[in-house]
Amino acid sequence: MRVAASPDTVKKLVGMGHQLVIETGAGAGASFPDSAYVAAGASIAATPRDTLGSADIVLKVQRPEPQEIGEMKSGAVLVAMLSPLQNPDEVKAYAAAGLTSFAMELVPRISRAQAMDVLSSQANLAGYRAVLEASVAFGRAFPMMMTAAGTIAPARALIMGAGVAGLQAIATARRLGAVVLGTDVRLAAKEQVESLGATFLAVDLEAMKQMETSGGYAKEMGEDFARRQREHTTEALKKIDIVICTALIPGRKAPILITKEMVAVMRPGSVIVDMAVEQGGNVEGSKMGENVVTENGVTILGQLNIPSHIAVDASQLYAKNLVAFLGLIIDKDQNLKIDTADEIIKGSLLTQNGAVVHPQLAGA
Ligand code: NAI
Repeated sequence: MRVAASPDTVKKLVGMGHQLVIETGAGAGASFPDSAYVAAGASIAATPRDTLGSADIVLKVQRPEPQEIGEMKSGAVLVAMLSPLQNPDEVKAYAAAGLTSFAMELVPRISRAQAMDVLSSQANLAGYRAVLEASVAFGRAFPMMMTAAGTIAPARALIMGAGVAGLQAIATARRLGAVVLGTDVRLAAKEQVESLGATFLAVDLEAMKQMETSGGYAKEMGEDFARRQREHTTEALKKIDIVICTALIPGRKAPILITKEMVAVMRPGSVIVDMAVEQGGNVEGSKMGENVVTENGVTILGQLNIPSHIAVDASQLYAKNLVAFLGLIIDKDQNLKIDTADEIIKGSLLTQNGAVVHPQLAGA
């Protein structure tokens, strides 16, 4: 389980003159005992109410529980990964409670905001971890091994979606010794996949020139492209042991990249990790939080919240992202100062002065 402050970030914030209160046991899942926070200068509170009641700024990993919203004081600033587009009613509750709330996942990905980019810090670790999960569920080794008892062929991995998570998955599978293929709808991804020593599985290089938004994200593929992608992928899957699916379209349901018929062509013992399962899934038949074994012996992992399975590093990096963000809303005299004209603030501010102010949510 992740936590929103590490002893390192507590030390930094205390050094800047802030008082830090940590709920008892909050860091236990990330191997940060209460004593480490105390040594860094924080105090420990026994209950959520004691933790939240007097805070001017509340840092969390994910959305607060309904009763926690009531425990924060009116006017407090809440900063977390709040999944606001999926939970618009909760955003209204933040406004009603008088909270100034920021969703870290909506921080625009401009270069000035790189140190605050929680999508990248968490997806990178999730991509790494997904390959390790696949390797454990796989009954064979990843690297080629030549032993006196015979030669083991290397595993063959396909990484679908070569964004932050996918590129780290490619690098990790390569380090473990697999032969790796990568694919994406964005043409820019081809060079990145190849620079990691993997082979790019291209559907239609010409069509891919049109598949990237100005913000660097994928567009939803048309039916014709989707059909051709399925054909290409089906051929590849006959010789693939491991698939890591990471494909997402911002604000939309994840695209289905692997149908039941495609899973059926894979060999027994193969493993698919559907990292998009929480956004609707890239794989037909994947189940949230469950491992499914198909009739032909393919295991589909639908693990939830993968970054929380690498909680120490994920917490360290997330906590640093938050400190970078606080630098934007706290002035040099250490007072709260929210400049609503700032592009990063505009992109991530959900509620202020009792109202929902985010352009994608206001009036909803
Ligand atoms: P994401 O999490 O939205 O999607 C993951 C990947 O899936 C993307 O590469 C996307 O192109 C791909 N995808 C979507 N539909 C697909 C389909 N039907 N078939 C195959 N692949 C599909 O993306 P992520 O990881 O957040 O990265 C998005 C972009 O943002 C990338 O261009 C990345 O380089 C860029 N980026 C920029 C940063 C910055 O400038 N500060 C920081 C991090 C990422």
